[in-house]
Amino acid sequence: MKRSLLVTSALPYANGAIHLGHLVEYIQTDIWVRFQKLIGNQATYVCADDTHGTPIMLRAEKEGITPEALIARVHNEHLRDFTGFHINFDLYHSTHSDENRECAETIYRNLQAAGLIEVREIEQYYDLEKGMFLPDRFIKGECPKCGAADQYGDNCESCGAAYTPAELKNPRSAVSGSVPVFKPSQHYFFKLSDPRCQQFLRDFTRSAPNGIPVLQHEAANKMQEWLGAPGENKLSDWDISRDAPYFGFAIPDAPGKYFYVWLDAPIGYMGAFKALAKKEGLNFDAYWKPNSNTELVHFIGKDILYFHALFWPAMLHEGGFRVPTRICAHGFLTVDGAKMSKSRGTFITAESYLQQKLNPEWLRYYFASKLNGTMEDIDLSLDDFIAKVNSDLVGKYVNIASRCAGFIKKQFDGVLGETDQAIFDQIITDEALTEIAAAFEARDSARALRQIMYLADQANLYVNDRQPWLLAKDPEQRAQLHQVASTALNLFRSLSVLLKPVLPALAAQVEAFYNADPLVWADARKPLSAGHCINDYAHLMNRIERPMVDALIAANSDSLQAPAPAKADKKADPKQAAQKQVKAEESKVGTHDHISIDDFTKVDLRIAKIVNAEHVEGADKLIRLQLDIGETENGEPRLRQVFAGIKSAYDPAQLVGRLTVMVANLAPRKMKFGLSEGMVLAASDTDEKHPGLFILSPDAGAQPGMRVK
Ligand code: MSP
Ligand code: ZN
Repeated sequence: MKRSLLVTSALPYANGAIHLGHLVEYIQTDIWVRFQKLIGNQATYVCADDTHGTPIMLRAEKEGITPEALIARVHNEHLRDFTGFHINFDLYHSTHSDENRECAETIYRNLQAAGLIEVREIEQYYDLEKGMFLPDRFIKGECPKCGAADQYGDNCESCGAAYTPAELKNPRSAVSGSVPVFKPSQHYFFKLSDPRCQQFLRDFTRSAPNGIPVLQHEAANKMQEWLGAPGENKLSDWDISRDAPYFGFAIPDAPGKYFYVWLDAPIGYMGAFKALAKKEGLNFDAYWKPNSNTELVHFIGKDILYFHALFWPAMLHEGGFRVPTRICAHGFLTVDGAKMSKSRGTFITAESYLQQKLNPEWLRYYFASKLNGTMEDIDLSLDDFIAKVNSDLVGKYVNIASRCAGFIKKQFDGVLGETDQAIFDQIITDEALTEIAAAFEARDSARALRQIMYLADQANLYVNDRQPWLLAKDPEQRAQLHQVASTALNLFRSLSVLLKPVLPALAAQVEAFYNADPLVWADARKPLSAGHCINDYAHLMNRIERPMVDALIAANSDSLQAPAPAKADKKADPKQAAQKQVKAEESKVGTHDHISIDDFTKVDLRIAKIVNAEHVEGADKLIRLQLDIGETENGEPRLRQVFAGIKSAYDPAQLVGRLTVMVANLAPRKMKFGLSEGMVLAASDTDEKHPGLFILSPDAGAQPGMRVK
């Protein structure tokens, strides 16, 4: 049965650029929505800029423009960046819209009618010079706990303490620098402490529409903590008003009062949908009234769970609307294991990535390969990014087409032959497709991609095994060549279907190549028949080269100065010192610092077949090896040359035909005798108590090119 889905990503603030951290969320949501559409569900994806609040008001003032002009400019920039990364919103709207104002007023009036809005006087810091109340973030002073200077009004970044602005020592307004004073004012509160809200939220937290929990279990645990034990009432009322001057919606019948930005921000999902409904003639109530048949799915970062899992559902429920079906929270992005940093150049904007001409689908693939549907943080390890994209996308997936397309074009006029159905069915199984679909559905794209790459490995093994480049040399094998190349191209087409949610632009190129209708999920099981005419194959994707990533980091670096030289002894050669250190540590097993799994996966270890081995003239330690690790170039196998220091232990003749393990992503090294493109692994005893060298071998069954992890 066809499902109806309304999907959202959090609304980015309209006062900053989109960066790679944001993209974790928008790429993830986009992949999920594209997957749903691909399998035939009806999915709508809306988002908007979050435009209201003090920071946006002050930023516009600083730039000497109106807030409206600021948010219009940023809207264009955001949409440009999202489009650049192929984020396919059905509508990208704004919270500063008539539709959103209508929705916010309706919900507010309904809450009021239900007796859930209360007016109370509170005291807050006020900037006399500027004539405005100060949000906590605009008050600075000394931490009441540790005394650190220059801390915000709500918490200390130095010791982590949380407090109220009244507790801060020597407070100053961050807007004017003046000393703020306390001033009373009327505020509007949403009565979350009301027993109705408490009860609803307890039920909501534990609900599982269609058998799927509304919250991930980590999020549900957090909610239990916030709600307290049954009978306990831990929720306090929520202050939803702000005083003028404020950039936002005026509260009806409350002169000088505005809705707090976090009230109309989530309502922005509804406002955006309302604008889309107007444009496309959709039935608003069918999506938003209780008992709607549409699933409402929100993707958010873990930092805004409180707003989405508490305030938003309570507002909807008590305001007379349906509640979310699912809230999918994700973790935060780190770059090379650390928080994104402007000084290190790792606070990377979407715009700079596109300007530096990096392929947006590289990042889509990399994020997808890391996202697993949990709230864990995800790391963009730059070396791993390069290695994974090059090895999976270029080396495995695109490789299948690039090594076979030429035969069909040149030898068979672009006409496909029979597909070997037995091989096809053996690789593209129903079970594999079901598992991959289930992984995408569960937002575990990491698992989906692992499975897809496993199928790509099978397809490459098939081609390796049939060796079409040899068949092409023998006119008697023409029929066989036609079948092998056609089968491989149909396998490639199936893989393209499965990757389409992640790589939509590449899929469009592939669709043009196959000269057939846009690919849908069911196509993965249906090879094109013999006689189908395909178009010329155009190169599909380049490798990432390290200098491109370096240029990206440089483009995002705050300071263009070289880092200050370390104070260490200038005469010491750092490389030698490091080698010394390694030597000293090497023999002591277990004394090393731990490394992370990401550090380990940076090393691309592959099963290598020694195709050739020979002595090197003029070298007394080296053997020249030619290694097959399943790579090809222009349809021919490409061998790696490695000079290995194993002459003392091995005779070249005994090595030929053996399998071993090589480091495939070691930077190539120019040697006197030629280029060395990697390293083979061998064991030796550093104390030389047990002389000899022992190269590693895999168990039987391992194939050249398999990854060792
Ligand atoms: N405007 C609010 C959301 C309102 S939703 C009704 C907001 N905006 S934001 O621009 O700060 O963040 C937008 C989304 O991007 C949030 O879900 C946030 O968690 C996510 N991310 C922002 N920085 C991020 C990382 N470094 N890593 C992963 N996600 C991050 O919050
Ligand atoms: Zn402190």
